[in-house]
Amino acid sequence: MKFFVDTADIADIKELSEAGLIDGVTTNPSLIMKANRPMTEIIADICKVTDGPVSAEVAATDAAEMIREGKVLAAIADNVCIKLPLTLDGLKACKHLTDEGHQTNVTLCFSATQALLAAKAGATYVSPFIGRLDDINIDGMQLIADIRRIFDNYEFDTQILAASIRTLNHVREAALIGADVATVPPATLRSLVKHPLTDKGLETFLADWKKTGQTI
Ligand code: E4P
Repeated sequence: MKFFVDTADIADIKELSEAGLIDGVTTNPSLIMKANRPMTEIIADICKVTDGPVSAEVAATDAAEMIREGKVLAAIADNVCIKLPLTLDGLKACKHLTDEGHQTNVTLCFSATQALLAAKAGATYVSPFIGRLDDINIDGMQLIADIRRIFDNYEFDTQILAASIRTLNHVREAALIGADVATVPPATLRSLVKHPLTDKGLETFLADWKKTGQTI
């Protein structure tokens, strides 16, 4: 499973990228708002430090304007992936931009049938939001499993980008189900490395090593 980092914070992206932990980046208008800089600058900076796809979301709601905005964003760098909402206009824009050879990420997916439509529109990625479904007591992970089965049934190439990930268990379960990608906030990504037994074991090893009086 590939890891994308879900942030517009360039310092976080640089650090996680240097550690070889990430295969791409996703942003959204809320993350751009938090970064508090012009979006085109932010996306250009992220693309400079990221080899993989960088999702940049359109703000328009009609297909023609989404296509125009998508092209502006795609012109920033070769690895921009145009992010479009899962609406009828979003799907029209997805089909158009995909046919022109752009990478697309259809976002705000909350049902398996929506995901099926995104695949039919040729989306490179579809982003089902796990955490936001869990928030309303609907099993977000079941949605990932349903989409996996549907895409495998019909051999769709669209990649499942598990989004709105909040916990380590979300990452674990998405990987077990076979999501192609998980987009994870920086703090959650960092927390994946932690285990109390690793810390405890390292502490013991370092103390015993010190007792040997040796150096390497
Ligand atoms: C995905 O591309 C979205 O940016 C993101 O995963 C949304 O997560 P949230 O529900 O935590 O805002």
